[in-house]
Amino acid sequence: MALHGDLVLGCFITIVLMNFQKSWAITEKHVIIQMETYMKPDIAGEFMFDFDGDEIFHVDVKKRETVWRLEEFGRFASFEAQGALANLAVDKANLDIWIKRSNNTPNTNVPPEVTVLPQKPVELGEPNILICFIDKFSPPVVNVTWLKNGKPVTTGVSDTIILPRDDHLFRKFHYLTFLPSSEDFYDCKVEHWGLDEPLLKHWEFEALSPLPETTENVMCVLGLVLGLAGIILGTIFIIKGVRKGNAVERRGPL
Ligand SMILES: *[C@@H]1O[C@H](CO)[C@@H](O)[C@H](O)[C@H]1NC(C)=O
Repeated sequence: MALHGDLVLGCFITIVLMNFQKSWAITEKHVIIQMETYMKPDIAGEFMFDFDGDEIFHVDVKKRETVWRLEEFGRFASFEAQGALANLAVDKANLDIWIKRSNNTPNTNVPPEVTVLPQKPVELGEPNILICFIDKFSPPVVNVTWLKNGKPVTTGVSDTIILPRDDHLFRKFHYLTFLPSSEDFYDCKVEHWGLDEPLLKHWEFEALSPLPETTENVMCVLGLVLGLAGIILGTIFIIKGVRKGNAVERRGPL
């Protein structure tokens, strides 16, 4: 176990020093998406803001209120839900126009890719959360059900609204709190118009077979060597950087 600790530490140091060297030329790129969906017939619209793939908030169309993804977001910003409803009314009118212009061409169905994974490493008897990630589908309409030992579960479940992707397909997350046991098995059942039959993604507890000791030791030594190399390289770069800085300063006032 201690060996694993060393490995992690070694790699960590490398990364920190390399980043330090780069920190003089940081470039950042962020994307905010304002997504509005409105579908016919009779499927309520959705209005949301996405920052780099994470939801900031959406408007609950039925309750006519802004719902922040994290409560604290609402302390730093505000959004008038009424504005979203006005936009959706415009979307509805536009949709009628587009339907006419396209001669009633329906949306093409793109079936989802589904992944089920636990939120953190699974330990028997330690409460955890199963995540069902439904990705790359269109139109943004899905039915998702959690099954425990083949039976639908409704307690301990939650989900996100449908989220945008930058390729005009959609994503959604469903969550299930559970107590890992070696007897129970779980499925995330997804229905979508692009699928011939419901897609079941299976998950069950598997005891990890530990790595053979030699592999473990080799990995540990590699990690340590990398870490040390990082420290040495990092130090050299820092010294060089400081010297260069001095040289520039000395030349400066001339
Ligand atoms: C979701 O379930 C409802 C009710 O069973 C059904 O009418 C609808 O077609 C389903 N939607 C999808 C995408 O399968």
